[in-house]
Amino acid sequence: MNGKLYALGVGPGASDLITVRAARLLGQLDVLYAPAGRKGGDSLALSIVREYLLPHTEIRTCHFPMSAEEGEKQAVWDDVAQQLRQEVEQGKQVGFITLGDAMLFSTWVFLLARLGRPEWLEIVPGVTSFAAIAARAVVPLAMESQSLAVMSCTAPEAELEQALLTHDCVVLMKVYGRLGLVQSLLARLQLFEHAVLMAEASLPGEQCWRRLDQMPSDSALPYFSTILVNKSWLSEESL
Ligand SMILES: C[S@@+](CC[C@H](N)C(=O)[O-])C[C@H]1O[C@@H](n2cnc3c(N)ncnc32)[C@H](O)[C@@H]1O
Repeated sequence: MNGKLYALGVGPGASDLITVRAARLLGQLDVLYAPAGRKGGDSLALSIVREYLLPHTEIRTCHFPMSAEEGEKQAVWDDVAQQLRQEVEQGKQVGFITLGDAMLFSTWVFLLARLGRPEWLEIVPGVTSFAAIAARAVVPLAMESQSLAVMSCTAPEAELEQALLTHDCVVLMKVYGRLGLVQSLLARLQLFEHAVLMAEASLPGEQCWRRLDQMPSDSALPYFSTILVNKSWLSEESL
């Protein structure tokens, strides 16, 4: 069999929120690359897919330092991209898993930029975190002629404000460490009653807040925290 690389979005956390295609492919892999948050640490993506793997699938966890200087990060991406290419050239079935969808705010995209579009690559979409949150919190994302923006809270404040002013619905990702900033924007734009914050959606520690105005700005939020703001939908307590 010719070697192949599958970049697999594995959904937001619950292991039954991965696609049937991803589950089938996971059951055919020789090697699986799983990103881990810390060096030598556990991989959440790996814990999601473990039940679908064959006993002989080799697992390689890899750490992508987020806070490292640019040159160090580039060196890691170069190295992992090269390893993936080499494994495929050896005729292996190789998987690279990524939380949510692979094409949305994912380290996978840095590897893709190095690999190009070879015919041995297949990208399998996954359920994004915000799709799961919309369903769990019962907050629609957009309908009819409405617009939806997906923003990272690492963006400059002025860009976040512009998105909140312009679009009917805004997904604010990477809220960790930036709750105070978002709260001041929501207060200024009078959007508190349209906002919902969800952490660890579909995981055992899932939490949902609908009164963001009552949360201390220094609340200890998990890294996996996202806010949805839908201007044409009131969050539950305000209904
Ligand atoms: C590096 S991005 C990964 C996004 C992912 N590729 C996706 O499709 O959703 C990490 C951000 O995704 C969001 N996120 C991922 N999983 C989540 C979950 N289970 N619950 C809440 N937010 C989540 C958080 O905003 C977090 O800061």
